[in-house]
Amino acid sequence: MPARVIIFTGKGGTGKTTSAAATALLCARKGYKTLVMSSDPAHSLADSFDMPIGGEVKKLMDNLWGVEIDAHTEMHKEWGTAIAYARQLLSVQYDDALAGEIMAIPGIDEVFTLLKIKKFINDYDVIILDTAPTGHTLRMLALPEAVGGAGQKLIGLEKKVTKVLKPFEDMVGVPLPESSTFDETEKLYVRLMEAKNLLAGKNTTVRIVLNPEIMCIRETERAMTFMNLFGFHVDSVILNKVLPKEVKDPYFDKWKKLQKKYMKEVELSFKPLSIMSIPLMETEVVGTKLLGDVARELYGKKDPTTIFTSEKPFDIGKRKGKFYIRIKLPFTKKEDIDIEAADDRLIIKVGWYKRVLTLPAVVVRQSVKKAELKNGYLTIVFEGKKKEKKK
Ligand SMILES: Nc1ncnc2c1ncn2[C@@H]1O[C@H](COP(=O)(O)OP(=O)(O)OP(=O)(O)O)[C@@H](O)[C@H]1O
Ligand SMILES: [Mg+2]
Repeated sequence: MPARVIIFTGKGGTGKTTSAAATALLCARKGYKTLVMSSDPAHSLADSFDMPIGGEVKKLMDNLWGVEIDAHTEMHKEWGTAIAYARQLLSVQYDDALAGEIMAIPGIDEVFTLLKIKKFINDYDVIILDTAPTGHTLRMLALPEAVGGAGQKLIGLEKKVTKVLKPFEDMVGVPLPESSTFDETEKLYVRLMEAKNLLAGKNTTVRIVLNPEIMCIRETERAMTFMNLFGFHVDSVILNKVLPKEVKDPYFDKWKKLQKKYMKEVELSFKPLSIMSIPLMETEVVGTKLLGDVARELYGKKDPTTIFTSEKPFDIGKRKGKFYIRIKLPFTKKEDIDIEAADDRLIIKVGWYKRVLTLPAVVVRQSVKKAELKNGYLTIVFEGKKKEKKK
């Protein structure tokens, strides 16, 4: 059976690495064959465990392995030719340094860590992924979908055009790629789609780590909208660094009041999602002893591999003879949503996120009857036959 994958994400410094490491430790202690992976170039996983880890899978203790993927090297290994070509193309218009800068899209190299998951998926019971604070990792997975069928067509078309034009490169004025570049780009495209499908699958859940602070709460709300829109299953939020009751010093009175208010807000906002919390420990969390303590605070007697909230981010079904697509879109206002139907695709725009849903065959020929936003759910109802375009 493929591994249960748990992804930890959240704003910078909230405790993603600590939560990921503590969860991995507990999984291993419970007897699951566990791999903990980091896609963060800062590689703090090793600091958290207080053990060297590195770019190759390393056994850390019974049932626990760790790896800190060097995403940058991984990207150049996998995608070197296409990147080199894009740089070459850009350097016609910009100087080389600037071209390099443009290619350094935040988060792009991290995606290559996600591609690695596929390699390990059948070798472990559980894979825990600690991500970088940028929050771009999962966002990048939306890329192949946004490019969609157009991307595939373009790859095919450019391949042909390049073949014809290559001998006239000087006249065209831009360097033309070898067709192998397109093969590689195509391969990457397919692999990104595979990674996206794997991570939106039923064995993968995302846990968002936040602190009881207003900026963290807002960021988590935005993350929730994105995750739901793209079909990533968030099964819990982890509220970290909560001041414990034992803290009596009046200096912290205001902090405690504020945290209480924010914890209430988190509860109201994210229900029915499971909300777990970790107190602010006496010191920073380094080494297996303290990680074990954090795991106990976090999960108590619960199995960390449990899917704590089973609700799916979106579903397709039939009600009163009409097909519908229902997407959970909390923290979204009606005026922020824009829906466009184009051939076999439905484009849902929420603010500046854009989701392109390839419609299932049953509704492709139908038109959108109505779309309604209620209680945090967007429901799109389909009906009848779509009018054929006049020739
Ligand atoms: N509950 C806690 N009590 C005390 N210290 C904590 C707690 N959780 C995390 N820390 C400490 O806070 C610091 C940041 O935690 P951590 O590295 O897990 O955050 P992160 O979200 O992974 O950060 P980054 O965004 O930089 O990757 C670390 O020094 C860690 O030991
Ligand atoms: Mg970290």
